[in-house]
Amino acid sequence: MHKSPNLKRIAVITSGGDSPGMNAALRAVVRSTLARGAKVVGFAHGYTGLIGNEALPLESKSVGGIISQGGTILGTARSEEFRTREGREQAVKNLRENAVEGLVVIGGDGSLSGAQALAEEFGFPVIGVPASIDNDIFGTDFSVGFDTAVNTAIEAIDKIRDTAYSHERVFVIEVMGRANGFIALDVALGCGAEACLIPEVQYSLADVCQSLRDMHRKGKRSSIIVVAEAAASAEEVQGFIQERTGFEARNTILGHMQRGGRPTAFDRVLALRLGAFAADRLLSGFAGEMVGVEGGKLVSHALSYVLGTQKTIDPDKLRLVNVMAQ
Ligand code: F6P
Repeated sequence: MHKSPNLKRIAVITSGGDSPGMNAALRAVVRSTLARGAKVVGFAHGYTGLIGNEALPLESKSVGGIISQGGTILGTARSEEFRTREGREQAVKNLRENAVEGLVVIGGDGSLSGAQALAEEFGFPVIGVPASIDNDIFGTDFSVGFDTAVNTAIEAIDKIRDTAYSHERVFVIEVMGRANGFIALDVALGCGAEACLIPEVQYSLADVCQSLRDMHRKGKRSSIIVVAEAAASAEEVQGFIQERTGFEARNTILGHMQRGGRPTAFDRVLALRLGAFAADRLLSGFAGEMVGVEGGKLVSHALSYVLGTQKTIDPDKLRLVNVMAQ
């Protein structure tokens, strides 16, 4: 975390897996920068576009009407080339040739690691904005897109619940979360799931079957089981349950639909606050940080601290899923 004099021209990218609200964050970065009398340039396709010099000048009207749009108008990518020293050198060379003095990176943990590499290896001023549906980034209670993804999944499961009820079936629903159960837990609570499997907590499919039988005995004829993609495959869980219990079961993988769609009000406001704060910090000379929100308040932490600490799930949420299922 260091401070240098006010910056006059910064760049912004969206990087890694897209998330709903990235556009709202981009709009906030652009308009906050312009409001301070500085200039802002976007690079298309994340780090890939930095390496390929895909610079796009951004004006206030460039980000008009995008607050409600999912995805990212700048485009995004997962760049293999940026993982190499040569790739990063080329990216910094392009930034400097475009007279860019600092960079805002809107993205998830991989993208923030890339930002840290730019800061550490080249001393390039960078500020990160956490944007990922996974919500697995330490140093912020929420990352942009998580709330929308959870709402999208719940809306889909509400529909599946109708058919599960009508046919008296067990439905196993797989939700995203590359290595964790943040999405799964909130989705399970919000849709009233009968069980939730996450990678952070050991589970037994035999116990899940026993609990389904118990609930059946009490009169429950249909069930929803939410499975984090990192915990198990929905198809395998469905097969196991059907064979063990004899209950008719189906599975649905919600997949990338969770990454798209109009951002919720929560994500729009979060993205706007974080994007504006990131631009302000960078323009004021702060760098090597990620902005976030903790207990409702804006914070900014060193990237090394954020990336060196693992965010953990709240185990009480899983307990509540099970209590509510009875
Ligand atoms: O990190 C966001 C995420 O959607 C994860 O939940 C998921 O595992 C991964 O990205 C999928 O990545 P891709 O779109 O590259 O297949």
